[in-house]
Amino acid sequence: MDQPPPLLSAEQISNRVDELAAEIDEAYADTEMLVLIGVLKGSFIFLSDLARRLHVPHRVEFIAVSSYGAKESEHADPVRLIMDVRHGIDGHDVLLVEDIVDTGHTLAYLKRLFAAHEPKTLGTCALLHKPDRTEQEVEVDYLGFTIPDVWVVGYGLDYAERHRTLPYIGELPPAMR
Ligand code: IMP
Ligand code: MG
Repeated sequence: MDQPPPLLSAEQISNRVDELAAEIDEAYADTEMLVLIGVLKGSFIFLSDLARRLHVPHRVEFIAVSSYGAKESEHADPVRLIMDVRHGIDGHDVLLVEDIVDTGHTLAYLKRLFAAHEPKTLGTCALLHKPDRTEQEVEVDYLGFTIPDVWVVGYGLDYAERHRTLPYIGELPPAMR
């Protein structure tokens, strides 16, 4: 099977994850417990690399969301939670960890949702951001890379469940979809 051409090498990703972990360590130096909430499935590799580089006390939770189709989204929230956290997050420092911010709807929805649980602080972290695709502005406190409007796969990201475990981030040209 042909491999998608690389956009970000494994080494570039690893170096950036080191930097993000250092930034997060510094920002949460006084935390009692940082709750990392990864959004499945796309963030599972990023979160596992990031978490293993942190020195501050932390624990890991996963949630899963599902997107509605374009038509349904005209009337409802375009995103819906299909798996919730196991333990309460009220009073904790919480960091949402996403693979990629595309239109912004998912992260904006999750921020609203988790803000309602009254965490002590609520931060956002994403490996990738496609600013050209923004439909809903959402602040990303810790961002890995800004990328152009292309479909990317690997390092957790997929196209129809394919290419998720590629060790680098590749650009999937239309001919390979
Ligand atoms: P949103 O449009 O910001 O809500 O992005 C929602 C989700 O779409 C992301 O968390 C990814 O799971 C997925 N997604 C968006 N762009 C890409 C991409 O280029 N490759 C793989 N998944 C993507
Ligand atoms: Mg995702």
